[in-house]
Amino acid sequence: MYKKFFGLRENPFNVNPDPRYLFVTPHTEEALSCLTYGVQSRKGFILLTGEVGTGKTTLINKFLEWLHRESLPTAFIFNSRLNEDQFFEFMMTDFGIPCDTRSKSQILLRLNQWLLERYRAGETGVLIIDEAQNLSPAVLEEIRLLTNLETYTEKLLQIVLAGQPELDHKLRQPELRQLRQRITLRSKTYPLTSEETSGYITSRLRIAGSDGQPIFTPEAIDLIHRHSRGIPRVINVLCEHSLINAFADQRKPITAEIVQTVAEDFDMLVAEAPPPQTSLNSIAENPRLVEALEGLATLMDRLRRNE
Ligand SMILES: Nc1ncnc2c1ncn2[C@@H]1O[C@H](COP(=O)(O)OP(=O)(O)OP(=O)(O)O)[C@@H](O)[C@H]1O
Ligand SMILES: [Mg+2]
Repeated sequence: MYKKFFGLRENPFNVNPDPRYLFVTPHTEEALSCLTYGVQSRKGFILLTGEVGTGKTTLINKFLEWLHRESLPTAFIFNSRLNEDQFFEFMMTDFGIPCDTRSKSQILLRLNQWLLERYRAGETGVLIIDEAQNLSPAVLEEIRLLTNLETYTEKLLQIVLAGQPELDHKLRQPELRQLRQRITLRSKTYPLTSEETSGYITSRLRIAGSDGQPIFTPEAIDLIHRHSRGIPRVINVLCEHSLINAFADQRKPITAEIVQTVAEDFDMLVAEAPPPQTSLNSIAENPRLVEALEGLATLMDRLRRNE
């Protein structure tokens, strides 16, 4: 509804992970290079992590475009709440491997044959699992076993596990140590800096058809950065609703005041950071702190005894 008013062809701040809108920061570039390098050099197992809403799925969609251009076969699992059978079924179907059996050994045999055929044709299969922080231990174990599909020199299947930082914590659990050890490359997405937030907003507006006339004042952009802490999904929500509010009032460009109202309406105000809470438990759980305190206690004791 506001498109005509602001001279836009489409909604610039849609929250879909549309790779056409990808804004490339040095971090995004590094993460994308890590993914493409990992596949090209058949590294086997790549981890992509990042905070909620920082662009993991958008980046994966861009990576998928690259994989399709390279004509590499892919399977993309975005529903990570699957059981083992569903996981295999989804993967085989998405790779396009005909498979009418439910026996796991037969499925693995079929997959291995298919991967060897791809290997001989100079290709490699790429399995991407998004939202991997939700995978069950049983499915993670199956993924570990898939990393064993290899020739004497190279991995036959390239696996990308993407997820929120909990994924990294999950992989630190002792029972997942074996899977963690197989990770050969790590990449990350990050919140945007304030300059990047400004570039991000301008870039999305331009892709949506803006002729470059400022739609947000610099103060409005600063405030969007502060309230969003540079998280692209939150930036999108603040920008989208600022456009709607400004259109309702027939005002442009969008001012910091409009952004502030939207942030208040959506409960997105930056909260003051709470003072760090140091409980006795948290001290006891930190071995370096315990060591330092013990050293201090010994020193005090020696001073007291005038040594
Ligand atoms: N680098 C970027 N360039 C353009 N848009 C981005 C970028 N990063 C994120 N976005 C936008 O922010 C929104 C959230 O991104 P996305 O869904 O990819 O995040 P995510 O990290 O996968 O989130 P979640 O942890 O919830 O899965 C989307 O609208 C996406 O288009
Ligand atoms: Mg995502």
